[in-house]
Parts: sequence; C-alpha cells; structure tokens
Amino acid sequence: MAKQNTFTRAKKVLAGGVSASMRLHPYLDRPVYVTHGEGPWIYDQSGTQLLDFNNSNGASMLGHNHPEVHEALLTAISEGPVAAGETEAHVELAERLCKMIPSAERVRFASTGTEVTSVALRLARHVTGRDKFLKFSGHFHGLADAFLFEERDVFHSSAKPIAVSGGIPTSYAYDARIVSWNDRDAFYEMMETHGREIAAIICEPVWYNAGCVPPDEGFLQLLRDSADEHGCLLIFDEVLSGFRMAPGGAQDYFGVTPDLTTLAKALANGMPLSALVGKGEIMEELAPGGPVAHSGTYSGHPLSIAAANASTRILSKKKAYNDLNKTASWFYEQLQETFDAANLPVRVQGLGGRFGLYFNREADVRTSEDAATNDHRLNAEFVKGCLDQGIYFHAYRTAGPPGHSGITLAHTREQLGDALTVIRDVAGKLKA
Ligand SMILES: Cc1ncc(COP(=O)(O)O)c(C=O)c1O
Repeated sequence: MAKQNTFTRAKKVLAGGVSASMRLHPYLDRPVYVTHGEGPWIYDQSGTQLLDFNNSNGASMLGHNHPEVHEALLTAISEGPVAAGETEAHVELAERLCKMIPSAERVRFASTGTEVTSVALRLARHVTGRDKFLKFSGHFHGLADAFLFEERDVFHSSAKPIAVSGGIPTSYAYDARIVSWNDRDAFYEMMETHGREIAAIICEPVWYNAGCVPPDEGFLQLLRDSADEHGCLLIFDEVLSGFRMAPGGAQDYFGVTPDLTTLAKALANGMPLSALVGKGEIMEELAPGGPVAHSGTYSGHPLSIAAANASTRILSKKKAYNDLNKTASWFYEQLQETFDAANLPVRVQGLGGRFGLYFNREADVRTSEDAATNDHRLNAEFVKGCLDQGIYFHAYRTAGPPGHSGITLAHTREQLGDALTVIRDVAGKLKA
C-alpha cells in the first residue's frame, strides 16, 4: 500500500498533500499511490494489483491503457503534436459525435468538465437574457463558482442555498434555484414561481455523482416540456453519464434530447478532453461567430483528440453496450444477492457502466434525501476490507450521498465473480 514517506513528503510540498482534493481517499485519510493501470487493474506503489472499481473517476471506460488508445497516442506523439493547433482529427471526432449524440449538431472541444458546464450556462444566459438557473440538490457540475451551492449543505443543515466552498460571492446564491431530484412537485412549484427568470435547467440525467439514481419514468420528459414552456434551455451534464450505457449516453437511452450537452471523462478514455455539443443555432453564438466567449490554449489538445478518436470508434458500436449492459446487470444482481445473503442492508443501484452502493438501506434510492442516508461508517469499513483483499473502491466524501463506482469494457465476468467472493467475505464480517 502507500509508502508512508511519499505522503509525508507530499504534505510538505503539495497543498493538502494532493493534486486534486478528491484523491485524498476520505476513508483512508491518504491517497492510494498508483504506478500504472492495465485493463481493469491498477497497481499501487508496492506492486499490489487491485481490481479497480473507480476507473479514473469514470474516465477509463475501456479499461486502463487500452491497446487502441495506446497505439493512437504513440502515433500522435511520433507525429509531433502542436498544442493550440486545429487538425483534421478534430473534424473527424466532431463528425462522429454528431452521429452518436442526439443533441449534437455542433461541437466545441475544451479540456475539463468544469469548463464546459460553465460555458453551457454562459451560453444559456446569453440566448435567454436571464441569469438564474435550476439545478438539482447534490448534482455535481464541476467546481465553477456558479454551481457550488446546495439547498441543504451536505455537511451541515440549513434551509437556504449555501456555498459549498470558501471564496464564492454570496450574491451568486440568488442565481441558483435548487430542488430535490425526482421530486415532481418541488420542480413544478419552482418553475411556476421562477420559470420565467430561469436561463437553464441543468441536471445529471442519471445522478451518478450520488452512486446511481436514475430519473423516474417521465421525469426527463417533464424537464424537457417545462423548459420549452418557460422558454429556457435544458442542459444535460453527461460528463459522467455520457457513453455509459448507450453510444449517445443517457439522452440516447431515455429518448429525451436536451438543447446542450456536456461530455468529458469516457470521451477520451482518461485523457483530458471535454466537449460542449448542442443545437446549431445556440452553439453558433460561441465566439468566433457569436459573442459568447470560449477559447483555450489546450482546448482539444491533439493527444486527447487522438485518444478520443480511438475510444469513440469503439464506443460508437451498439454491440459494445449490449455486452457491457448484460455484464453490468448480471453483476449488480449478484452484488445485491451477495449483500442480502450476508444480511447486510445495502441497496445496489446500477445502470450501464456505473453503480452505487447505499449502506444501511433497503428501499430504492430515488431522491436527494434518499441518497443522503448512506451510512458512511459501514461504507468505510466495507471499502477498507475490500482494499485489504485487492479490490479498490474510491469514495468522495464522508457525509451525504455515497461515491460512485463502475465497471469498464475490460472487466470480465470471471474477474467480477472473483470480486464477489471477496465482497461476500467482507460483507459477512460487517455489522449494520
Ligand atoms: C457530472 C459531472 N459534471 C462535471 C464534472 C467536472 O468535470 P472535471 O472534473 O473534468 O472538471 C464532473 C466530474 O466528476 C462530473 O461528474
């Protein structure tokens, strides 16, 4: 496991000892130092092989170091990549995304998910001339100031929108309107009261940042209809749900098309790349054609574009998802049976390549309130027990909803079967 002195050294030179806050594993109180990954495996500093259920926070959808992505990267490096250079490969990737993603008529590449959710909101504010937006409690849209509000702080409790970071202008709270996921009445009431001031409704169409909370039947269509009725945009943040259960992501799977969509993570199988895609007339408001600012030295970096072309050639095939979805459903059922047999109250919810485990819960998790009931003490004991036996689950916080976990196209039934044996053992020793 982690060499003690690496973290000791890190704390003297890296802020908080890490390069991203969520790499400090909240249950272990240290990062898991990784040397490399191969398929479904990661290897830690001491050479221990771990079956990876985090998959680069969901980015390595094909598994780590996928041979076709590896080859594409080597070729791109050998050609002498030029950052800030536009290439034909950008056009090839955009053409493929326009075929794959129902809402994609135009594409703009960027580097991170945070960047494209911010640009999506900027575009929505520009085309509607409104400032406010509606988000769902606990949905994660990156770390831009506008989105860092919660109706109910997940760490403390409070009645009004509250910043979940230091340094956020208090006035920004007035722009965020927040309701609980899948709560039709709360949503309806909010739109009746504030709909005409709202520039955009933004959501994770499958709320994976709380494990896996799918939309109730008809809920996404309700958002679509309400956005149309009130003259605002519908933005699907598919940074995590994109390419997860269908080639065109959640909008393809559920048959509801937003105006704008944000993509990242699986797009380039772990290389830094994001995309904002959407309706042509809205997207053409982006500079240079329109007045809405967006550009970046590293936007659509040629190495990331090469990785994304290789990844999406694979992810554009329906067959990939037939296989993935079958394996995933089988695994989630087996997981549920394993916890049930161990008499441990854990609710398993999964869709496509990502799932959530809700500790000390038997009922369905549907709303933001449901997701927040996760028992983090039990969750932590489970994660530590699994890690001791070669299985890696990440966690993102110690209160509120649980973190998200996943499988990739590289995880085989045999490996998952072995993992179930370990999970049976660990679960059998835990007490709710
Ligand atoms: C749904 C969603 N949106 C946005 C982001 C932010 O993406 P990034 O970490 O690339 O800035 C994330 C990251 O986890 C995410 O899950």
